[in-house]
Amino acid sequence: MVCLGNICRSPLAEGILQSKLDSNKFTVSSCGTSSYHIGNKPDSRSIEIAKKYDIDITHQRAAQFNKSDFTTYDYIYAMDNSNHKNIVKLSNKAQEKSKVKLILNELYPDQNLDVPDPYYGGEQGFEDVYQMLDKACNTIASKLKKRS
Ligand code: 4NP
Repeated sequence: MVCLGNICRSPLAEGILQSKLDSNKFTVSSCGTSSYHIGNKPDSRSIEIAKKYDIDITHQRAAQFNKSDFTTYDYIYAMDNSNHKNIVKLSNKAQEKSKVKLILNELYPDQNLDVPDPYYGGEQGFEDVYQMLDKACNTIASKLKKRS
């Protein structure tokens, strides 16, 4: 799960998807394309909205996307088109590029919609992001379970 800062959207996506999967079978992680918040906890508004739905993301610490992630992970979900473009730029092979997906295309195929960045907005933005990610992660989790 990749966003820009790895403090608002992708920590939520990580927590939500992991909560829908058996952690003995699937590892979900998140990072940002930027280095802005490396080592930081998720934004308090993301922590709060996750807690509202019984998901604890307080252990997460922000990291930056690393090229080794292309090898470590089978699927890479970008929160928005800008993140997607920046990850694809780092890929060397078609096989790496093919792992990079826009997360809302799981719900709305080929529409290339962004999960809006809630950082500069209010709490409702975090609720909206949570609901979008929850739905997208339902689709991802059911696909992954079929493949395992
Ligand atoms: P995120 O949100 O990409 O969902 O973690 C942001 C967090 C921080 C900044 C931008 C977006 N920032 O510019 O510091």
